[in-house]
Amino acid sequence: MTRSAARTGAAALALPFRATPVAAGTSLVLTVLAGVAPATGAWLTMLLVDELTSGAASAGRAAFLAVASALAGGLAGALLYLVGHLGEVVRHRVTLTVESRLFERVASLPGLRHIEDPAFHDRLRLAEQAAQEAPGTVTQFAQELVRSAVLLGGFAGAALAVWPPMALLLLASALTAVLARLATVRREAATEEAWVATDRRRLFYRALLTDVRAAKEIRLFGLGTLLHTRMIGSLAAVSRARLAVARRGTLAQSGLALLGAAVTGAGTVAVATNVVAGGASVGDLVLFLGAVTGVQAGLTGVVLQLGDAGRAVRLFGHYLDVLGTGDDLPAGTRTPPPRAAVELRDVWFRYADDGPWVLRGVNLTIPAGTAVGLAGVNGAGKSTLVKLLCRFYDPQRGTITWDGVDLRELDVTALRARIGVVFQEFMTYDLTAAENIGIGQVTHLDDRPRIVEAARAAHADETLTALPRGYDTVLSRTHTDDAERAGVTLSGGQWQRVALARCLMRADAGLIVLDEPTSGLDAEGEHRVHGILRRHAAGRTRLLISHRMSALRDAELIATLVDGRIAERGGHDELMDAGGEYARLFRLQAGGYQDARVR
Ligand SMILES: Nc1ncnc2c1ncn2[C@@H]1O[C@H](COP(=O)(O)OP(=O)(O)OP(=O)(O)O)[C@@H](O)[C@H]1O
Ligand SMILES: [Mg+2]
Repeated sequence: MTRSAARTGAAALALPFRATPVAAGTSLVLTVLAGVAPATGAWLTMLLVDELTSGAASAGRAAFLAVASALAGGLAGALLYLVGHLGEVVRHRVTLTVESRLFERVASLPGLRHIEDPAFHDRLRLAEQAAQEAPGTVTQFAQELVRSAVLLGGFAGAALAVWPPMALLLLASALTAVLARLATVRREAATEEAWVATDRRRLFYRALLTDVRAAKEIRLFGLGTLLHTRMIGSLAAVSRARLAVARRGTLAQSGLALLGAAVTGAGTVAVATNVVAGGASVGDLVLFLGAVTGVQAGLTGVVLQLGDAGRAVRLFGHYLDVLGTGDDLPAGTRTPPPRAAVELRDVWFRYADDGPWVLRGVNLTIPAGTAVGLAGVNGAGKSTLVKLLCRFYDPQRGTITWDGVDLRELDVTALRARIGVVFQEFMTYDLTAAENIGIGQVTHLDDRPRIVEAARAAHADETLTALPRGYDTVLSRTHTDDAERAGVTLSGGQWQRVALARCLMRADAGLIVLDEPTSGLDAEGEHRVHGILRRHAAGRTRLLISHRMSALRDAELIATLVDGRIAERGGHDELMDAGGEYARLFRLQAGGYQDARVR
């Protein structure tokens, strides 16, 4: 997305005023006052020195000027603290606003396209950094600019009054400083953009090293050193790149400091000579020195912050990009019809435009209220088909309909509310057992009777009741509950039952999809779960995917997915007689169970 730096900067600047108008406005006004105070102080000091060296000094006037000058100094100091505090208030409010907006966008992305795109993650990371830094940095810069403009105006006016050519010298040194800083800024921002992927990998290795789920493999395969080396390697590479940019910046900055000293020296010599010649007073020299030091300090501040602000503005562009990210699925508006009859017609799908086709013309009808079993070897595209049914992606060709209506026309949230799924890679949340089930129907997160009912149906109730704090036990080894009590972790099969219970929370689901829901269950568990499912989900449309052919046997219709197409469909007996892929897979598994002693 192309957007001018001025527009991006304006957006970053506008943010504080949107987030917290009163604090931001007050801060701006006080900043202006804080800018006026030092020049006033210097002016009063000049008057004091002149009064004292005039030869006819009045003690009363001198005392008044001394007190006034001290007051101006004190006020300037106090205002700076106040402005600093207001800045802090603004920063907190802005961080809250931008983080909220950023993750609101991420949370509302309907499909999986963006979330599975590495470039999107890079942008998101840059956006998050920028969102936290830019508004504060840009506001600070703007404040500094206002304060310094007033301050510089005052001082420059004073210096000008004493020795006019000084204005030109100051201008020249200011311009050089600004140009040098801008060049560094561009390099800094480009470095951040170029290295964000490496930095994300560092965070990945870092997370992996502390991940409880990865801990077993890391130890058994002895991956600790490898991961540690990679993590530190990424960090070192990013550090090297950042340091190289900083080195150049320091060199430029040092050069500028020398230039500033030369300008001051030249001006001081000129004015001092003039004082000796009687063309100017000692007070003039004092004012001039104060003015030049003030101008240079102000300029240094502005130039340094210009760098930070420039970098922040460029990175803030990524934040605006993320906020402006379009939906990865066109929105539909229709409510799904009550009958959950699903039909796939000549569905072609691939994950990337240049990737291989995963589905190549799938035709499959899942009549309302029936159970359909789907078989196929690893990588055949079964889970992909599930993702298309949930409309995480749209097929490139062909249509999927819900009671005759194309999924694309349906409101995607309403559609998903009608589907209960146990994904093959279901989640194990570091939440309580009750929450792990309740989130299946988030509006009933606290509906304990319904949660227990779902757990009973999935045969998880006994296990969960027996936990130290029953359903309120945290299912995690890395997080404690609110009372800081450690949690427990379940076995693989027990987790699978919890996932099944989660799916069964959806009482309104017309379509239930189970992708390998019983692969981790013991034989008795599987048998019971199938019985329960038949009763619990009776009347609902079911799609059951399993490598255990016995689990599919009772389905009214069984289909096999081969080479991205439905190769055969029919009842168990019919398919066995046909002697195709289903019969082959079934016999293979049945053969594994044959034992002469059983026969
Ligand atoms: N998010 C993704 N991005 C790119 N390719 C993917 C993605 N998910 C799956 N694939 C690819 O799509 C193909 C089908 O995968 P899918 O998970 O649908 O198979 P499956 O039939 O469910 O296999 P299994 O029996 O192992 O569960 C595989 O070749 C896989 O590499
Ligand atoms: Mg799968």
